[in-house]
Amino acid sequence: MHYVISSKHFRILYTKYAIRYTESMSLAIYRKYRPLSFSDLLGQETIVKILKESAKQDRIAHAYLFSGPRGTGKTTTARLIAKIANCEKRISDAKFRAKGEPCNECSACISIDEGRNLDVIEIDAASNRGIDEIRDLKESVRLSPSKYSYKIFIIDEAHMLTKDAWNALLKTLEEPPHYVIIILATTETEKVPATIASRTQQFHFQRITIKQISEKLIHIAKGEHISISKEAVDLIASAGEGSFRDAESLLDQLISFGKKEIVLEDVEHAIGKIGFHKLSEFAGFLLEKNTDAALKALSEIHEGGYNIAQFAKDLIQYLRRAAVLHYSPSMRELFKKELIEEYLTMLAAHGALFKESDLDLLKKLIEAYGNMRYSQFPIIPLEVAIIEGLKK
Ligand SMILES: Nc1ncnc2c1ncn2[C@@H]1O[C@H](COP(=O)(O)OP(=O)(O)OP(=O)(O)O)[C@@H](O)[C@H]1O
Ligand SMILES: [Mg+2]
Ligand SMILES: [Zn+2]
Repeated sequence: MHYVISSKHFRILYTKYAIRYTESMSLAIYRKYRPLSFSDLLGQETIVKILKESAKQDRIAHAYLFSGPRGTGKTTTARLIAKIANCEKRISDAKFRAKGEPCNECSACISIDEGRNLDVIEIDAASNRGIDEIRDLKESVRLSPSKYSYKIFIIDEAHMLTKDAWNALLKTLEEPPHYVIIILATTETEKVPATIASRTQQFHFQRITIKQISEKLIHIAKGEHISISKEAVDLIASAGEGSFRDAESLLDQLISFGKKEIVLEDVEHAIGKIGFHKLSEFAGFLLEKNTDAALKALSEIHEGGYNIAQFAKDLIQYLRRAAVLHYSPSMRELFKKELIEEYLTMLAAHGALFKESDLDLLKKLIEAYGNMRYSQFPIIPLEVAIIEGLKK
């Protein structure tokens, strides 16, 4: 199950910062900490196992289809395959080849990591340039690699390809020259024509757990000599919603503010979102029917400059999870992917408090959220929903 609370808002915010950051610093965090070997790829154990095994046996397929949520390692894995295919040490050293990893030292590996290998062609199907490049694909496939053994085409956002592009690709996949590897990456696998998909080796990338993201963030903070509180890490990880890239970009943004120490408030302010503890406290006021405390807290959140619509969304998600845990406690297992144990415990306690009548409050909040987006005073629909919802 996927819960997308704020991905759009988040993306806009971070693309902005990512650009600013790359301009001012040499290397963005998510590039600097991109896994260089299969063993660095987290949370995709099955994929790693299969690909490593085929690398050991030197049995690389001619076409792959990678699907799965954003920021989970698709492009990273595509580059790993490109390195496996062209790594010079693997070609000259059979013992090393049996390790199933790229060497990351030869000119092929380094140039691929730096994105300047002429035999690795990355095409972003979502951009205009991508469309032209796909048009040239048939031609390009016919020319053998310029320097290395294989010519690798990585087609990102493949679901954006046009019908003509799919047709061109199909021709290539039917009879690929021995030196060609085509890797399609997409977040929307259902948009890939079956004729194409059936000619590829398919891998579905898993959504990443909060815990795995937190661990990597801590590792990065260490590497950057930044001290960061546990609450701050947890909030960054959950704001990433299962995407390593989003979480890493947020950490990047915080580091670029020049702080050597990052605490919860820094993260809250950066994302305009309050942390889980405050959210939980607020939900508690609602479940206890404490209208006074709820309205006061809401006004403080508003004054604090947080995005109120975002807050409403988070609140709805929180209460929805509490309701689900009330009616179906076994759902806790499923929520483990998205939430850390501490948060789950808070939610479960609120799940126990949840009453039939709170469903009505939840409905009112959802309705208010719908109205907020068109209101000049977004706090008002939320206040009204709370007052009405808590009225006996
Ligand atoms: N499985 C992973 N393990 C460790 N780090 C990861 C993993 N997946 C992604 N990352 C981090 O996130 C960054 C972006 O990953 P990548 O470009 O591979 O994602 P993607 O799946 O292609 O996403 P999108 O669908 O948005 O293109 C990487 O540079 C890396 O730092
Ligand atoms: Mg990608
Ligand atoms: Zn190498």
